[in-house]
Amino acid sequence: MADDRPLRTSLRIGAALTPLAMLAAACGGGGGDPADFPDDNIEIVVPFSAGGPTDTVTRMIAEPMSEELGVEIIIQNVEGAGGTVAAGQVAEADPDGYTVLMHHIGMSTAPTLYPDLPFDPLADFQTVGLVTEVPMTIIARKDFQPATLEELISYVEANEDKVTYANAGIGSASHLCGVLLQQAMGVKLQEVPYDGTAPAMADILGGQVDFMCDQTTNTTAQINEGKVKAYAVTTTERVESLPDLPTTAEGGLADVEVSVWHGLYVPADTPEEVVTKLTDALAAALEDQSVIDEMAKLGTAPVEPERVTPEEHTTVLEEQVASWGETLEGIEAE
Ligand code: MLT
Repeated sequence: MADDRPLRTSLRIGAALTPLAMLAAACGGGGGDPADFPDDNIEIVVPFSAGGPTDTVTRMIAEPMSEELGVEIIIQNVEGAGGTVAAGQVAEADPDGYTVLMHHIGMSTAPTLYPDLPFDPLADFQTVGLVTEVPMTIIARKDFQPATLEELISYVEANEDKVTYANAGIGSASHLCGVLLQQAMGVKLQEVPYDGTAPAMADILGGQVDFMCDQTTNTTAQINEGKVKAYAVTTTERVESLPDLPTTAEGGLADVEVSVWHGLYVPADTPEEVVTKLTDALAAALEDQSVIDEMAKLGTAPVEPERVTPEEHTTVLEEQVASWGETLEGIEAE
């Protein structure tokens, strides 16, 4: 699997191999006895472009996880089809714990949106644990005419055929939020898909696309530096790092409420002993004060420690796969 993957950006993070692991690696370690796991580098696959929200969350936890596990963590960005290309590749990886997927709410919408999905999010994966739930923000290019969410609604309804909105492909969180927005406004807008919301943000900043709904992990700095227009946050309460940004409910779009939950996955049949070591390393990373502080600066927080378990992650995934079907009925990737 690893050899046929299109080589994207990758980043080596953290602790070098421990002496024992170096010896094992030198002798072709990795994928050996679960009791020795890990004895080689671990790869975390990110289904969207480097620099975007999913990538940002992954890089936050990779360093402390690497310290905890005593091996390097390599982050590999594999874009495409709203995250389903990466998920499909990880589903086929060796179930040895050395290939991990970071994904979010898009894992639960994929079965509805992709009729020919080459994997089953529940049957083909083993959950490792939940990571964080990230609020979304509705933002626009700086010179976009509407000044408030109310004005945005009126402007979009009057200019439905002209307004463009960016997302990271069908099945991405930015796509999902856009669907909720269009359903709430009763419009069908021209979508501009990207490999991630990092390149989408570049076009918002450059004025090539009008607006998008993206996670605070990618928009907080741009909003606080006044580089984009910001209309609302998609949570029931305002976000501490963006105190002046009203909620969608305050702006008359109470139905547009979504937070982007993230979790780590390994291929199904990965030995329980290996999964437990990964879960424990994730839990330790999420209790690391620097991770907590970094997440807070970007409008989010680790999930509660008791939710960093495969069982809780599976429960959330099952509920979400079941619940998005109705909302997304009729929307299918070509
Ligand atoms: C999305 O689902 O919109 C992704 O979070 C975008 C990204 O991570 O680049």
